[in-house]
Amino acid sequence: ARHLLGIEQLSALEITTILDLADRYVDLNRRTVKQSDALAGMTQINMFFENSTRTQSSFEIAGKRLGADVMNMNMATSSVKKGETLIDTAMTLNAMHPDLLVVRHGASGAVNLLAQKVDCAVLNAGDGRHEHPTQALLDALTIRRSKGRIERLTVAICGDVAHSRVARSNLILLGKMGNNLRLIGPPTLMPPGFAELGAGIYGDMREGLKDADVVMMLRLQKERMDGGFVPSMREYYHRYGLDAEKLAFAKPDAIVMHPGPMNRGVEIDGEIADDINRSVIQDQVEMGVAVRMACMDLLARNLRAERGRRLMDSY
Ligand code: CP
Repeated sequence: ARHLLGIEQLSALEITTILDLADRYVDLNRRTVKQSDALAGMTQINMFFENSTRTQSSFEIAGKRLGADVMNMNMATSSVKKGETLIDTAMTLNAMHPDLLVVRHGASGAVNLLAQKVDCAVLNAGDGRHEHPTQALLDALTIRRSKGRIERLTVAICGDVAHSRVARSNLILLGKMGNNLRLIGPPTLMPPGFAELGAGIYGDMREGLKDADVVMMLRLQKERMDGGFVPSMREYYHRYGLDAEKLAFAKPDAIVMHPGPMNRGVEIDGEIADDINRSVIQDQVEMGVAVRMACMDLLARNLRAERGRRLMDSY
């Protein structure tokens, strides 16, 4: 494929290929000398229309580790602020011949639209409530390294499912790999249609966590609740916040995940988040660099092959 727009478009075999390559990049990243020339001579532009700490910095590090020239567009000081549209901005950058465009946008589908307009490879770094494919891939790598497999696991995804592109991408990926999926949260934060992705729906946290291998907490996304129902933080933590008492319903060796950023004391107790015997939250961040290296490496190979074919055709 030319782009990475969502998990929806990936097969189980393609997911495994990305995870296997990412595994190798974890090793490279841990070395003191971290050189690879997979993206040598290539230009990567990061366009983040929404805030980011983990995704933007790890895409930048990943590109640099692979030898790309990386440019971070500062959207806050760009001509977007003068009213330039997303597509015009993308076309402008496209005219400078980048090879990889990493895009985060608040509108679902915006990255897919942009990908149809440019000549380079586009990676979706999160679009609205739609997909966050590299997050699901880094979560899968974290689970596989921790549990030794990425199939036949009971995975509970808990909290604000309605606004979560992370939940959607994870459900699709974990479903394709053959896992037992559960969604836990208040009915007000449980969108219709998610059950069609093959998950059991639970309103009660203790029931949903029973014998889970993986407990994936989601951030309560107040910024996306635009005028809708916002639960009381106290009540929410009481019913859906992960604490030691509720976690005890999961398997004794269950791992705790959170994509970040975390609202401590809202969806997760700070002590659980920091418990190195249960929480793999920092591993998720580490895997983020390796997974993004793998995704960009594979897309760059496809891009080089496509350009080679076009060159041959032109003779
Ligand atoms: N998980 C995630 O996407 O984090 P950032 O918003 O910090 O990139």
